[in-house]
Amino acid sequence: MNQGLLTVSYIGATILFILSLGGLSNPETARRGNLFGIIGMTLAVVATLLGPRLAGASNLALILGAMAIGGAVGVFAAVRVKMTQMPELVALMHSLVGLAAVLVGFANYIDPTAHLTGAEKTIHEVEIYIGILIGAVTFSGSVVAFGKLSGKISGKPVTLPGRHQFNFGLLIVTVMLGKVFLNASGVASGMTPLLIMTLIALVFGVHMVMAIGGADMPVVVSMLNSYSGWAAAATGFMLSNDLLIVVGALVGSSGAILSYIMCRAMNRKFVSVIAGGFGTEGGTPSAAAGAAPAGEVVPVSALETAEMLREAKNVVIVPGYGMAVAQAQHTVFEITQLLRSKGVNVRFAIHPVAGRMPGHMNVLLAEAKVPYDIVLEMDEINEDFPSTDVSMVIGANDIVNPSALEDPNSPIAGMPVLEVWKSTTSIVMKRSMASGYAGVDNPLFYKENNRMLFGDAKKMLDEVLNHLRG
Ligand code: TAP
Repeated sequence: MNQGLLTVSYIGATILFILSLGGLSNPETARRGNLFGIIGMTLAVVATLLGPRLAGASNLALILGAMAIGGAVGVFAAVRVKMTQMPELVALMHSLVGLAAVLVGFANYIDPTAHLTGAEKTIHEVEIYIGILIGAVTFSGSVVAFGKLSGKISGKPVTLPGRHQFNFGLLIVTVMLGKVFLNASGVASGMTPLLIMTLIALVFGVHMVMAIGGADMPVVVSMLNSYSGWAAAATGFMLSNDLLIVVGALVGSSGAILSYIMCRAMNRKFVSVIAGGFGTEGGTPSAAAGAAPAGEVVPVSALETAEMLREAKNVVIVPGYGMAVAQAQHTVFEITQLLRSKGVNVRFAIHPVAGRMPGHMNVLLAEAKVPYDIVLEMDEINEDFPSTDVSMVIGANDIVNPSALEDPNSPIAGMPVLEVWKSTTSIVMKRSMASGYAGVDNPLFYKENNRMLFGDAKKMLDEVLNHLRG
């Protein structure tokens, strides 16, 4: 394949990626968006393999071998992973992008065939230095995020005293090492500052994500998504691959926009997130945080729940992480259909950080074929709770916690939540009195108009459905 054809293929792939992102922004067009992405990626890989830079059979054999191994691992992981483990898998994928940027950077630096001189050499070395820096931060930060999301590392923020000074110190040392690196006379002397900087970047990535508290993880997930894009773009610069630069920038900027949206959803400041260590400044943890539940709750049975639903005119369903765990979305849909056939106005309220990844609930509801027009965002439905007869909270906790609005010392203080307690009755469906991801007790459970339906969401909803049918 000649250079001209390669450029055309890359432009085609870029257009397909942009169409893909556009499609993914709406559930109705998401499938098509995904398809555009697949075609674009296939085109990009094939064009790169057949492109002039990779001429040579030995290279191709090596690459195909690596692709077969990587592809097999990817297929295995994708088939085995449960929907609830998706966010961890995504974090792990981000870490691989970071690691790739680091490895490409080192390979580029020690490449014996590179004969750049003067300004070109300096520019290339700056690319290498920045690429390895972003890659290493992305790698170690994503590994810690994976640990936190999978529960292998505690979700509690771990902060060092004087951590901002520490981070600032690391930044200064990194800049100074960069200067030493650029002035080095050869690979042997440049390698030492490069290795030290890599180590510092790895420490920084760990430190940054460790300092972030449980409820603030959504912002970290999208932020690392953005970092992985910039790491890919940096790799593109190192390899002089235009498509990688464009795709990396697309991922980097869309991740940054997503981070911004997440910040807004959680009422946090974007700048403090970027600075790292975010989510820990909100005062001392509330006395109730993680403490034993305070107050009395009113448990109800599936039969009583069915009766309340049958008598209601307006029902709002609030799905959360527990619905994903229980895989209850199909039963939820059947209940919805049945109630709607009896003239009940059933709608869904989606909190932007419900579940464990952006759009988590939308994906589950789309899978269960819930019509999109009854699935509403928090801002669209929060005002309707006072006129709602029954709010049914299915495996959600933090996103319906009134202490976010009422307790300024709560770790989730300031986060907008779905105000289900304003409806005539709220029913919370969960297995126990355990707290949610943020580890905060939930005063909703003890409100007078709240009822608790204890049990696995799928099992209890099946019972509710049977009673409704009966
Ligand atoms: P959570 O606050 O985590 O609450 C989920 C509840 O579901 C738990 O209290 C649990 O109580 C219940 N549950 C678990 N398994 C269940 C089952 N099989 N049947 C019934 N209930 C079950 O979830 P949420 O309200 O969706 O809020 C999301 C939280 O995750 C927020 O704090 C958010 O910041 C954080 N987070 C979000 C993301 C993104 S991007 N969405 C990423 C990382 C973290 P029991 O154990 O008593 O059943």
